[in-house]
Amino acid sequence: MKILVIGSGGREHALAWSFARSPRVDRVYCAPGNAGIATVATTVDLDTTDHAALIAFARAEGIDLTVVGPEVNLSRGIVDDFFDAGLRIFGPSRPAAALEGSKVFMKNLLAKYRIPSAAYAVFADQARAVSYLDSGELNYPVVVKADGLAAGKGVIIAADRDQAVAALELIMAEKAFGEAGSQVVIEEFLAGEEASFIAFTDGKTVLPLPSSQDHKAVYDGDQGPNTGGMGAYSPAPVLTPELEQQVMEKIMYPTVAAMAAEGRPYRGMLYAGLMISQGEAKVLEFNCRFGDPEAQPLLMRLRSDLTEVMDAVIDQRLAEVTLDIDPRPAVCVVMAAGGYPGAYASGRAIKGLDEAGKLAGVEVFHAGTRRENGDIVTAGGRVLGVTTLADDLPAAIEQAYRAVALISWSDCYYRRDIGQKALRPR
Ligand code: AMP
Ligand code: GLY
Repeated sequence: MKILVIGSGGREHALAWSFARSPRVDRVYCAPGNAGIATVATTVDLDTTDHAALIAFARAEGIDLTVVGPEVNLSRGIVDDFFDAGLRIFGPSRPAAALEGSKVFMKNLLAKYRIPSAAYAVFADQARAVSYLDSGELNYPVVVKADGLAAGKGVIIAADRDQAVAALELIMAEKAFGEAGSQVVIEEFLAGEEASFIAFTDGKTVLPLPSSQDHKAVYDGDQGPNTGGMGAYSPAPVLTPELEQQVMEKIMYPTVAAMAAEGRPYRGMLYAGLMISQGEAKVLEFNCRFGDPEAQPLLMRLRSDLTEVMDAVIDQRLAEVTLDIDPRPAVCVVMAAGGYPGAYASGRAIKGLDEAGKLAGVEVFHAGTRRENGDIVTAGGRVLGVTTLADDLPAAIEQAYRAVALISWSDCYYRRDIGQKALRPR
């Protein structure tokens, strides 16, 4: 088989790496890829917003399966366009991708089908939203969310009324997140511990991967602004077997059924971002793709052939599939450019990649790198995802940080507490 992966981050490196290990796969391509992806796949310099160019490439190369990493491509209807062109592609259609692409759609769906989530209200008018804040019905903090995709930045936790008003101003008047700000969701703040629950679904069967947990805040101890994710591990002990069953029964299956009932059958990865508190899981968000960085530890644990699982999703025979998962835990520590998620420098030469990659159980997935005059240099906020599989979680954490310590560039930054939450007593 020939596979085309679309994207250029750590998640796409892990996907390309996983495909490259499949005995069914002859060749992996990635558009546009990065310097690390180029070690496991043929990178092709295509504009991923240009679906016609991607389709022409897939036809010319005889691609058997295309897999989409980032949400923006899915929301723009890449899956619909490939299917219309008679090409096989893994992921939800554009109407189904609204589950991630519109928070208003997602919240209304969950409310209609009584799927557990935070209480909320929707506003298209800023003055009305401010009156709602002044109505005295709310307890602070509240969460203010831009409706559309905002690269993970359109969510503001407001400690009091003034901060909430400022958030509305930023989103709705200044349009800091563009058209995503034409509507807002004002939502109840949920306390608890977050976890990621990521599953394959063909619209009928839901086949979960093991649980995982991201680290969204930039600094140790979950301090500072949110990022795309500073590290992840799997499994996440906060999701006990009982809770996993609850999530499947009360969230995953009802959501897949709701999407079908709404005429938006959902096929692809279904990623529930959950808040867990007192034995109950509620949905914070849905994503219609693999998590990044959760994909890195999850794909290291997945022994099944990814092409077989994805084929079964596309052909709607996922009920026939079981996943073969490595019982060992995996940890991914993200190494970022200093300053991220704010402004940061690029083009810094990275040292120690080969030494780190030789350590037992370690894969260094590249998130933002490129080649420049023979060097591998930084080319993004999140630069690397150093990922390890080991016999137990403390050993995986130790080995991941041993590898991290071998890698350096000027102004490199990483959290030092990835995975610690899983080790504390519950
Ligand atoms: P979202 O993109 O909706 O998941 O929001 C991004 C992040 O904001 C989440 O991962 C949480 O850390 C935080 N967040 C979102 N909604 C809430 C909520 N209702 N209560 C508490 N934290 C939230
Ligand atoms: N790790 C969070 C996300 O992929 O959205």
